Amino acid sequence: MKLKESIESVRNSFRTDSDPFPTDKQSVESLRVKYLGRKGLVAGLFSSMKDASPKDRPMVGKLLNELKQEINSVFNSYKKITASQQSQYGESDYTLPGLKFPVGHIHPLQQTLEDIKSIFMNIGFSVAYGPEIDDDFHNFSALNFPPDHPARDMQDTFFIDPETVLRTHTSNVQIHLMEEQDPPLRYIVPGRVYRNEAISFKSYCLFHQVEGIYVDKHVSFADQKGILEYFVKRFFGPDTKMRFRPSFFPFTEPSAEVDIWSKKRGQWLEILGCGMVDPEVFNSVNYDPDVWHGFAFGMGIERICMLKYGIDDIRLFYQGDMRFLEQF
Ligand code: PHE
Repeated sequence: MKLKESIESVRNSFRTDSDPFPTDKQSVESLRVKYLGRKGLVAGLFSSMKDASPKDRPMVGKLLNELKQEINSVFNSYKKITASQQSQYGESDYTLPGLKFPVGHIHPLQQTLEDIKSIFMNIGFSVAYGPEIDDDFHNFSALNFPPDHPARDMQDTFFIDPETVLRTHTSNVQIHLMEEQDPPLRYIVPGRVYRNEAISFKSYCLFHQVEGIYVDKHVSFADQKGILEYFVKRFFGPDTKMRFRPSFFPFTEPSAEVDIWSKKRGQWLEILGCGMVDPEVFNSVNYDPDVWHGFAFGMGIERICMLKYGIDDIRLFYQGDMRFLEQF
């Protein structure tokens, strides 16, 4: 039967034409037009169906449909392959700059703390931590604060009950460390502290400090000066001008504050408090003050971070504003 043979010959010629399947769009399109187009070979076969005898027509129709399906499925699987190839290798413009994936930033306070830690660990300090909720003894009495000292005042201290406070400084950990171990000891203590102050660009109800304590038999003020100078030059740069200014803390004697010179502002700026551990503090932890000597210091992490990077509002540290954080 003639029509049946024509169907077979179109099938064979398609198999030859489509293997290998063309790779460029234009040849694919002309192949499609040749077989599936409105005036294509398959359409031609459909229109010659009228020449078949009524008896043969159902069989011829079935063969024709099968042919059309076969050709269609070859085109379809080609489409799938190219789509997946395109999504992988794309019709890409390789000269376009790449997409930037968002990268997280280490918070400036964390970075500052890491810097401080590594400087002190380089010269033999270990890192210790202590409680943020503490009793009056560790936060005040053992540190030689007289009972009526203004720092105990409700205006500065958050009380949990009359005997329990949110620590107002990391100095409470000096006491814990000395209670727990015999001298000598050499630690820095990072941590969060709390003060009931009016919130403004320069003070917040909580902030962070790093405490330092060094106790041994022959520790002198000169050692303290050398170590703090070493810290300042490494943290702020070798040309940083600094000075020790006499000051007062109940738990150190003599006491000092360290200032650095700000070229930009043309003034001295305080960066930390320090001093030789007061014998009264040694007494409260049963260290013999005739044998042991030490110095302690405390600095605000926010404060020195603000000075180093020129940040002018302490509240920026706690707001999670990406525009601020992304600069670090
Ligand atoms: N604790 C003091 C403060 O918060 C700082 C300090 C620590 C001073 C250790 C001397 C020695 O201001």
